[in-house]
Amino acid sequence: MIEMLIKYSGIFLQGTYYTVGLSFVSVLIGTLIGLILALFRLADSKTMNFMVAKILNFIATLYVEVIRGTPLLVQIFLVKLGSYQIFNLDLPDIAIGIIAVSINSGAYVCEVIRSGIQAVDKGQMEAGRSLGMTYKMTMRLVILPQAVKNILPALCNEFVTVIKETSIVSYIGVTDLFYASKSIGSMTYDTLTPLFIIALIYLFITFTLSKLVRLLERRLSQSD
Ligand code: ARG
Repeated sequence: MIEMLIKYSGIFLQGTYYTVGLSFVSVLIGTLIGLILALFRLADSKTMNFMVAKILNFIATLYVEVIRGTPLLVQIFLVKLGSYQIFNLDLPDIAIGIIAVSINSGAYVCEVIRSGIQAVDKGQMEAGRSLGMTYKMTMRLVILPQAVKNILPALCNEFVTVIKETSIVSYIGVTDLFYASKSIGSMTYDTLTPLFIIALIYLFITFTLSKLVRLLERRLSQSD
């Protein structure tokens, strides 16, 4: 196992680089999408026209339900074939992977942000309002700073999830960790050992990240 790891370290490293890079960029874009969707989902008649709020709610709910209700693998192929056949775009595989995973992650991040905000005690809004602050002011100065404590660790967990889920992009030819294990397997006729090695690499990355999340959580709860 060690010999294989050393001999093919270049391929494993490239795989790790693609897996972590694609996950990071996708969660970043996904966070942007999720933030917008969460604003849509939380829109209500207190801040805008009732009808507009209802339409925004509907769009966000539909997005989240459709994305979470269909497999990521299907979404990846829809982006791949759709971009080619409908939009006549010949995108590189890595771009297709990033687009599909970002779209997918956006739905999950939307829920992370929405539940993070709604988990803040209702009394906080009432207290702010009774002190004479407007709805928007209370949201910005009282609710959001508390919601961040729920949202940040959950966002890091989303990153951990996406690192594991991206193994699926090897199906469209992205040279991630899983792809690395497949190509080393076909070079050496030993398919099991490279699988063990990438499992250990995945575990190392997710374990380290989870430890960091735990640390972050502790840090954030200190001020409570
Ligand atoms: N395995 C899930 C699916 O096929 C993917 C979930 C992605 N999760 C996420 N947190 N972005 O749909």
